[in-house]
Amino acid sequence: MSETDLAVDATGTAPADPLVLAASWLPTPASGVTPTMTLSTIGLDGYPSARTVLLSRFDGQRVHFHTDTRSRKAAELSAVPRATVTVLLPESARQLVVTGDVTPVTDEEARVAFAARTRYLQVLAWLNDHELAAEPPERRRERWAAFERDRVDAIEPPATWVGYALTPVRMLFWQGDVDGPSNRLAYHRTDDGWALERWPG
Ligand SMILES: Cc1cc2nc3c(=O)[nH]c(=O)nc-3n(C[C@H](O)[C@H](O)[C@H](O)COP(=O)(O)O)c2cc1C
Repeated sequence: MSETDLAVDATGTAPADPLVLAASWLPTPASGVTPTMTLSTIGLDGYPSARTVLLSRFDGQRVHFHTDTRSRKAAELSAVPRATVTVLLPESARQLVVTGDVTPVTDEEARVAFAARTRYLQVLAWLNDHELAAEPPERRRERWAAFERDRVDAIEPPATWVGYALTPVRMLFWQGDVDGPSNRLAYHRTDDGWALERWPG
């Protein structure tokens, strides 16, 4: 594995701006690759609360994800608008962990993200509520088929569709190396930019 794989230049200097580094690690929307990530929030009972979501977009400053306004995570983010996302990129032996403050995106941003989702995920956003979850499997499939029959055209986002953007305060870049130790670049936001430390592990 070369020095460039460790995201440092020939002198061993890491990039000063982790947002630029994140942009070079994460796939662009044009690539057609949508990474998943573990979204960790603070549960209403104080315990950590984690689940997998799609990384909808990294806009160069913020990490976007989308969900249902009635979900547990939406309630948790409403109570404490802070989260960590863990993105695993196994093909490049990388892990990116981003912690920060979460705000809802604009309706227009959410609409654009909905249009970019597959038809399956759009239908899921319409149908997947507590009422459907309580139905037997056969009935769930019937309701799915009925929705597809009635709504053959492009569908708009349901009122329960919401997007959030996470603005980083901490960013941890983990790079594996089969020929040597793994390496982490640990950035945290300061008043005038970013501070960097190198961590083991
Ligand atoms: C691969 C994968 C991708 C997922 N993507 C999303 C997503 O983008 N948004 C979402 O709300 N749920 C997504 N889910 C479902 C969540 O993991 C979770 O079950 C659901 O959002 C309810 O979470 P909550 O009760 O913690 O709010 C995904 C699940 C998997 C396995």
